[in-house]
Amino acid sequence: MALNMDAIGKPVGPLHKDYTWKDVVLYALGVGAGFSELDYCFEKNLKVIPSFAIALIFDALSQAAIDSGINLKGLLHGEQELIFHNPIPPQGTLTTTGKITGYFDKGKDKGALAVFQSETVHNNGQHLFTSIVTLFGRLDGGFGGQDRKTVPVVFPDREPDFVVEQTPSPDQPLIYRLSGDIFHLHVDPEFAKRSGFDKPIMHGLCTHGFACRALIDSFVPGHPEQVRRMTCRFSKTLYPGEPIRTLIWKTADGKALWRTVNANNGQVVIDNGEFEYGDIVEDKADEIRFDGKVAIITGAGAGLGRTYALELAKRGARVVVNDLGGARDGAGEGSTSAADQVVAEICSAGGQAVANYDNVASAKGGENIVQTALDTYGTVDILINNAGILRDKTFAKMAPENWQAVLDVHLSGAYNVTRPAFRVMKENRYGRIIMTTSGSGLYGNFGQSNYSAAKMGVVGLMNTIKLEGANHNICVNTLAPFAASRLTADIMPPELFNQSKPEFVAPLVLSLCSERSVVSGNIYIAGMGYYSRAAMITGPGQVLAKDGQVPTPETIMAHMDEISDLSGGKFYWDLNDQMADRLQFLQPTTADSSADAPGRYKTAAQVFTAMPDCFAADTATGLTVTFQYLIAGAGAWICDIRSGACNVSSGRHPEPTCTLEIAEDDFLAMINGTLLPMEAYTSGKLKISGDIMKAQLIGQLFRF
Ligand code: NAI
Repeated sequence: MALNMDAIGKPVGPLHKDYTWKDVVLYALGVGAGFSELDYCFEKNLKVIPSFAIALIFDALSQAAIDSGINLKGLLHGEQELIFHNPIPPQGTLTTTGKITGYFDKGKDKGALAVFQSETVHNNGQHLFTSIVTLFGRLDGGFGGQDRKTVPVVFPDREPDFVVEQTPSPDQPLIYRLSGDIFHLHVDPEFAKRSGFDKPIMHGLCTHGFACRALIDSFVPGHPEQVRRMTCRFSKTLYPGEPIRTLIWKTADGKALWRTVNANNGQVVIDNGEFEYGDIVEDKADEIRFDGKVAIITGAGAGLGRTYALELAKRGARVVVNDLGGARDGAGEGSTSAADQVVAEICSAGGQAVANYDNVASAKGGENIVQTALDTYGTVDILINNAGILRDKTFAKMAPENWQAVLDVHLSGAYNVTRPAFRVMKENRYGRIIMTTSGSGLYGNFGQSNYSAAKMGVVGLMNTIKLEGANHNICVNTLAPFAASRLTADIMPPELFNQSKPEFVAPLVLSLCSERSVVSGNIYIAGMGYYSRAAMITGPGQVLAKDGQVPTPETIMAHMDEISDLSGGKFYWDLNDQMADRLQFLQPTTADSSADAPGRYKTAAQVFTAMPDCFAADTATGLTVTFQYLIAGAGAWICDIRSGACNVSSGRHPEPTCTLEIAEDDFLAMINGTLLPMEAYTSGKLKISGDIMKAQLIGQLFRF
């Protein structure tokens, strides 16, 4: 398989990863921590070894390796750079988005490099770290590309300032692999022999974790959160149980060079190490900027929208200020003055803005707003759906016109403007969209049934378009603001009103609109300097059907407390995730689910070669579907079914109907009939995204 040049610049992810304190401790044990560094191993005052970052993004690395088309048989981890922006919390959910930034050709028999850069953000909203990995493809050299020019790391010509001796246990890889890298080279003696080694070898990243502990201990003992950057090149393999020595030279305040050698023979196993440490410095270079970006803000003639427009323009964005200048309840003709005034303010401060007076409540209005951005600035990168009106009435008195007017502006308005903007963003493979909800929708508010319904509607809209935008680097989030404006003038008590400047809300909005932000599908609350996240969670629930029998209403009533209990409630990224949990209890058992059981197919490649012959055309009448298979450890294949024919090719499809991700061993077990698809799915071995219903057809479409 040749390197996939089309993968350059395409987003990998966002990939989500939940982790708990147990994962943190398992990693620490895997890289040799113990009682002498109890803060790494004990949930009380738990501290995270920063090199744990790699274990947290292992899925993204695997995906990048598959996307790159590197021959996985020759794949090695070449270099690793980690830049830490904020300390890694001991638990949470991470979102990682990255891209392959380029390939380098070292020559026919010397291999090739693929560089993969990713950004990882915690569910607390903090950007935690940047990872730059160089994947080394031993078997991919000579593809005709350029070699990379590197500046050599020159170690001082003197004795190191620190020498840290460590001895990984002979069983070290057995613990380390539980943090995610289960490659057989590190565990299976037969596999290791076939790969040319006497026995299983250490994971290079495990040795990297030992080195990270040594560096922290030398410069910032007890303060792993002060590690700012760690970079290195993996140069030689090491067997478990061999002692290592990390040699460290301090080169300046907060900077050091390092390398790790095999203490038995002096061979350098990790080379070119750089290490930086110290407090987080918020420098200008870290400033969030929007230079070159085009933002549309609806309802930007007043209140919150006006503030977003001014703040975005101050930081370099070119802004479309939309406002129809109507009354608080949306009645009347409207006026151009609200939008014009904000444009004048922006321009007089040296910014760039254009006014638009269309009504978001009509599809034509939405198209015109986006067209204004395209005509004036050529594109659209950011959309803030903010326009809003109120028509409060108790539900009994809620006349249809008041119900409809509020839904038209808030919910249909978000649809009308987002749809044309989304099309442009999809083409550009970039976009940041904000929906505006309200506490009234999230929690309910007396007299606002129309507004509550519309505001919860935009949350549902976000939930689905975050999925449809995910592969196109389009992030969609929803904000529930709290600010003084004409909408809240008679709702908020005067003392609150005076303290609730819209300026307090804008920083969160700007952060979500920035290129650096990769969170998507979240609801945030902001106002008066307070910021938090709200989420829809689902309780663990109860299975009350016994032996397939429908339970009686009385049984349900008797268990209502357990059914309603939210303790241990979970946030689900999408319906598929939630369904996987729901189906867990249906998990069938098999006589032999061993992935190693013998079968007709020995490799994934054999399965895909045989696939067209195993296609049961009679079951596919009228069906058009594209399955994307991502087989970890083997590669990516596309199976395209249309007009009663089945075409199979290797590679990635830009818009598959549904994507199936599974390790090669599990895939073979499934095809060979020793692992039931449902079992693979409910146990998490098989991940399905996209149109999950179509995946259920696979069983009938092929007779393997
Ligand atoms: P605001 O009334 O000061 O600003 C809303 C702007 O939207 C006005 O300038 C109005 O002319 C414009 N607008 C109304 N209908 C429009 C339409 N059909 N097309 C184009 N523009 C239109 O209100 P505020 O407080 O700044 O609200 C902004 C958003 O935040 C709204 O969606 C609101 O529901 C939401 N919100 C505000 C809260 C607050 O505490 N201020 C609380 C929760 C939500």
